[in-house]
Amino acid sequence: MSDSTEQIRQEFLHDLDAARDLPQLEQVRITYLSRSGRIAVLFDGIRSASPADRPVLGKALNELRTFAQAHFDERKAALEAAAGSSEPAFDPTLPGRPRWVGSRHPVTQTLDEIKRIFVGMGFSVENGPEIESDYYNFGALNFPPDHPARDMQDTFFISKDILLRTHTSPVQIRVMEKQRPPIRAIMPGKAYRNEAVSARSLVQFHQVEGLYIDRHVTFSELKGTLVSFAHQFYGERLKYRFRPSFFPFTEPSAEMDISCYLCGGNGCRVCKYSGWLEILGAGMVHPHVLKNGGIDPEEYTGYAFGMGIERTALLRYGIDDIRMFYESDVRFLRQF
Ligand code: PHE
Repeated sequence: MSDSTEQIRQEFLHDLDAARDLPQLEQVRITYLSRSGRIAVLFDGIRSASPADRPVLGKALNELRTFAQAHFDERKAALEAAAGSSEPAFDPTLPGRPRWVGSRHPVTQTLDEIKRIFVGMGFSVENGPEIESDYYNFGALNFPPDHPARDMQDTFFISKDILLRTHTSPVQIRVMEKQRPPIRAIMPGKAYRNEAVSARSLVQFHQVEGLYIDRHVTFSELKGTLVSFAHQFYGERLKYRFRPSFFPFTEPSAEMDISCYLCGGNGCRVCKYSGWLEILGAGMVHPHVLKNGGIDPEEYTGYAFGMGIERTALLRYGIDDIRMFYESDVRFLRQF
């Protein structure tokens, strides 16, 4: 008899474990714990046992009933709790939920892509300090002493002669001081301007400077390099143009435009109805600047260019507010 008590205990535990919801659990109750269930039937068997066996058998059956009821109650509470919440019962065979993995910031991605293209054309990558002297930021770059860009409005001065660089062009001078031609380098980094923050401009932003100095470097090489870059970066089909411009440190100077990504050149709000977007400034390195960098302008010529990275990323991804880059809104950042 005690064998079948143990057998029922095992079968009960198995069925209880298999019950996935309350209706299935109710079936388990009816099978084992109801008035005519398997445990009750065993109790009926006591009467046909010999008087000597009855106390032992009765004790074993009482224990089984208490055991079964306690396990049943526990299982029922668990299933009720699971049914109460909308979550299904825990299923350990399901695959885990993936964790959020961060991604590279769109400005970093843009910078990495720009670097990749220029490194592919033989440029090295150089760096310079963000806190600069007036000399490297302006003087050595041929800004006259009274040039309006030195105004307090545009420049964050730390002291009379020390400032936060307003562009990456001072690194041109630092590279010329360190290296002999041929020099072929890009110089990425942060720049600062004391301007009102708006959808179009930030107080702190990034630029990439480019510099190429050798014998017989020509303006058409500058154009060829920049057109090759623009085709790789913005796509083969884009239209481009060069406009004459002015920078104190290049002569002649130009600005490069590409056809507007949004309207395809027909004119819209983003391109201010011109069909064109300015992407960079460039020019032939001014002889005074070569001299300031310790390079003989009679022997060498060179070109330089500079572009804003946030602006470039803005155009590439079709973003209409530059401030989005630094609001750390994951709904924005997750799109890249
Ligand atoms: N430094 C210029 C700017 O910040 C860009 C530039 C770089 C222009 C190199 C010409 C040559 O606008």
